[in-house]
Amino acid sequence: IKSIAILTGGGDCPGLNAVIRGVVRAAILKRGWQVVGILNGFDGLIDGPQTVPLDLASVRGILQRGGTILGTSNRGNPFRYPVQQKGTTELLDVSQRVVDNFRKTGADALVVVGGDGTLKIARRLNDMGVPVVGVPKTIDNDLCGTDVTFGYNTAVGIVTEALDRLHTTAESHHRAIVVEVMGRDAGWIALESGIAGSADVILLPEIPFHIDHVCDHIGKRRENGRRFHIVVVAEGAVPIGGHKVVQISADQNCGMERLGGIGQQVANAIQARQGIETRTVVLGHLQRGGTPSSFDRILGSRFGVKAVELIEKGYFGMMVALSGREVVVAEIDMAVESLNLVNPQGSLVHTAEALGIMVGR
Ligand code: F6P
Repeated sequence: IKSIAILTGGGDCPGLNAVIRGVVRAAILKRGWQVVGILNGFDGLIDGPQTVPLDLASVRGILQRGGTILGTSNRGNPFRYPVQQKGTTELLDVSQRVVDNFRKTGADALVVVGGDGTLKIARRLNDMGVPVVGVPKTIDNDLCGTDVTFGYNTAVGIVTEALDRLHTTAESHHRAIVVEVMGRDAGWIALESGIAGSADVILLPEIPFHIDHVCDHIGKRRENGRRFHIVVVAEGAVPIGGHKVVQISADQNCGMERLGGIGQQVANAIQARQGIETRTVVLGHLQRGGTPSSFDRILGSRFGVKAVELIEKGYFGMMVALSGREVVVAEIDMAVESLNLVNPQGSLVHTAEALGIMVGR
């Protein structure tokens, strides 16, 4: 091995720069390899190659930075790449272009940092002859094959801080506040930040909920003298009976029409049925931006260093993973074939319920 390449694909995530820095430093300091960064995920290998040389100076000062210095892409699946043709958008297989452009970089191996979609592509490119090592990434923590991914700890910290802040304003105004957090398929962020931030209700994709039960729970809290309420709802949470939980009319809400996502729907129902003034906060991409926690800087660094070791040993088509306290090698297949979901019967849900938090249902 003389030279390696690295790309970051899919949604950004705090800790990506720690991985890039870990790869660059481990490759250069002990091994004397060269490192080339591919820009904007697989897009940089579809058009191009678009690359940037990565030396020690180029990764200085990036450990504490959010996002990815290499950029990422929103549309870059080379096996189904959207191309405009005669006024319509066709999905074309441009994967051979990726293989050819990778060869043009002169690199002997490629580190692909990404979530399940990106790792699926990585596995297929490995089968086409690109020597690939994967690094699993997602703030949702829904990848199998690794105990946890970097970025998740930062997201839970951001949501917990938001819940602390929202508690004081909810308490002052005697309001309910519904906080919608990320998690399309898995409710890890909602569940762990809900426990850390002392939520009253947590709604997850894995445990369908009945809106009547949520409203009753809030109503009982009020009867017991509680004058504010915090509900955490994952964006993928599913109400029993469909998505339009309740449509609040303009006269029920100071002349304003209110619709919106699941958080807003739950808020509408609480306000309409319990007569409690309710606000919604959608934290959205705040959970993905900004500086990584120390945990994520360390995990990202460990993953980057381990990825270089896997390349050295020729473990292509494999990925790095956390198992217990150790960073190990794992099958990419594990991360792409099923999702790591919250177990409704597991100890985390049990803990939340034992603390008096309503978790779905
Ligand atoms: O998978 C990570 C994630 O942050 C999800 O929680 C969220 O639904 C999605 O990405 C948002 O994606 P985008 O940045 O494309 O809107």
